[in-house]
Amino acid sequence: MQNLFKWILRFKAVKSRKTYFSNIRHHEIMLSDQKRCDGYRIAISTGVHNGQHVLDVGTGTGLLARFAAQQGAYVTAIDNSCKILRVAKSHPESIGITFKRMNSRMVKDYFDVIIFELFGSFGLNEGVLDTISDLRYRCLSQNGEFLPDSFELFCEPVHISQFYNILPLESFGFPINMPIQWHKIPPECVTLLRDPVPVWTCKFQDAIEIPLNLFPFETSDVPDAWAIFFRASYRGVTVCESLPFHPYSHWNIPIFKTTLRQVHLKIVDTFLPETWVILSI
Ligand SMILES: C[S@@+](CC[C@H](N)C(=O)[O-])C[C@H]1O[C@@H](n2cnc3c(N)ncnc32)[C@H](O)[C@@H]1O
Repeated sequence: MQNLFKWILRFKAVKSRKTYFSNIRHHEIMLSDQKRCDGYRIAISTGVHNGQHVLDVGTGTGLLARFAAQQGAYVTAIDNSCKILRVAKSHPESIGITFKRMNSRMVKDYFDVIIFELFGSFGLNEGVLDTISDLRYRCLSQNGEFLPDSFELFCEPVHISQFYNILPLESFGFPINMPIQWHKIPPECVTLLRDPVPVWTCKFQDAIEIPLNLFPFETSDVPDAWAIFFRASYRGVTVCESLPFHPYSHWNIPIFKTTLRQVHLKIVDTFLPETWVILSI
């Protein structure tokens, strides 16, 4: 019964994400994130070489595919959304790139480099772990690489600017042991209380253990909230991140409003943010 419920939630989430990404407005926001675009351009200029076979998973408007094509690679670019692929194909520098409307599960060939940007505000909620785990065994050639190649998830105590300072439930006398749900706020309203330490890391090349129960380090300051951020890197260099460092990224920051100094992050399903809660330890 619980599995059926989870399946329905997943089905609904996949459908709403398809609708979301077929809307060009959301891609305009991603393309305007200079920090993200520069990070990928630099990483692709290091990791992709002339004559290599490259797969761009979830190509959207084709930005990463064009960076790879500029390196002289043979590029196949796929996306679930037919509408956004038409936009990708219309770009004059897309000539020579093979665009296909398909889900990554339908890809059959092998590639030297698989590039992707499948990160939502929660880092893992666009199905990146499922997609990459599947492609790793079926489509990555021997000595092939993922770009980005590693991922860090953060759950950090933060201060929130006055503008967003909604009081947490516990300040109204509610018990602190109930699960705390998230809000999303712009990164410029968040200040970190310490140097961030990842609560979970993975290498996309390896078999990945899905995070379920995470215990961030306790904080000595009283926070306004605990916030989720992520960072994706390639060969140790940041490709994209939602950490609230200036210049800010386009990703909003999920925050759990609580002044608790020691918390426990529980993730039932990485793909479904509604299952992410914070509990007191
Ligand atoms: C965050 S956008 C990134 C778009 C583009 N790569 C960029 O960097 O601007 C993710 C895109 O991946 C597509 N997508 C997500 N999962 C996919 C999958 N498993 N197979 C094919 N396309 C997928 C979505 O439709 C969406 O267009």
